[in-house]
Amino acid sequence: MRSYSLTAAAKINLHLEIIGDRPDGFHELAMVLQSVDLCDRIDLRPLSTDQIRVHCNHPEVPVDQRNLAYKAAALMAAEFPDTFAQYGGVEINIHKQIPVGAGLAGGSTNAAAVLVGLDLMWQLGLTQSELQELGARLGSDVPFCVVGGTMLATGRGEELAPLPDLNQIYVVLAKYRSLSVSTAWAYQTFRQQFGHAYVSNVQELETRRQRVHSGPMVAAIAHRNNTEIGQRLYNDLERIVLPEYPQVQRLREQFQQQGVLGTMMSGSGPTVFALTESQTQAEQVRERVQVAIADPDLELWVAPLTNTSIRIASSRPV
Ligand code: C5P
Repeated sequence: MRSYSLTAAAKINLHLEIIGDRPDGFHELAMVLQSVDLCDRIDLRPLSTDQIRVHCNHPEVPVDQRNLAYKAAALMAAEFPDTFAQYGGVEINIHKQIPVGAGLAGGSTNAAAVLVGLDLMWQLGLTQSELQELGARLGSDVPFCVVGGTMLATGRGEELAPLPDLNQIYVVLAKYRSLSVSTAWAYQTFRQQFGHAYVSNVQELETRRQRVHSGPMVAAIAHRNNTEIGQRLYNDLERIVLPEYPQVQRLREQFQQQGVLGTMMSGSGPTVFALTESQTQAEQVRERVQVAIADPDLELWVAPLTNTSIRIASSRPV
């Protein structure tokens, strides 16, 4: 048997539009999702017992059944009981670099890495769509995190269509360390405030999905027009999170003043990102925002966009 060390990339939302309610209680969404080369490392090691053990270097990440990476391993064990019985349990070591509770799919990408890694370790030979289907049972962002790159996502976020790869774009990410936003709270509050405008008619739902498909963000990506991509960033959840967290609003305004391609909150926040056309510019923006806000609680990162999500860093026989 082999042990695996994988890297798992963060995601940002270039477009997040809430269309309506779904019968399963979730929201019908139309999004453009993008992988960012800010990665956690996930080490998987076979155990001789039938346990699933999780360790993490970040004190706020639970290491029990609440951890999405744990849930991913438990799902694999339940789906493939004979293989689990044959190979035994797994030890999962998560080295966090992606901020937690940030709207960057950190937990989802860890879960995706466990699905991909156990498929390799247990030699299951699952297809990408089988891994995505398993991922959808764990969370709305997990199927995307299995594949990564640039994707149009509809439904709950699990129906994916690839878009052309983006490159030559850097991202500056900023998050207040002590601030995190509950995704469930953000969607629930959006429903309370804007639910009256939700689309429920099947035909209208399809029209709204199509509107994103043939809309300006997808066109800007197809033409690799970075200026247009920056200007077309959109996130419905800003309408809920920014008024509640004025410091996130101020952060966004700071980015705006730096002459970046564009700036937006990612997912349900509170991370704000800004796009730039070079690493040098991204580093300058990071420095200027750090100086302008001068709050030790504020953390900033610079990373390029990436076309992949889960990568094998190393593997060795055990
Ligand atoms: O799927 P995930 O666990 O990431 O979703 C977290 C929460 O976000 C859900 O419990 C739900 O409240 C909300 N959500 C939603 N519609 C989606 C995705 C998430 O309402 N399409």
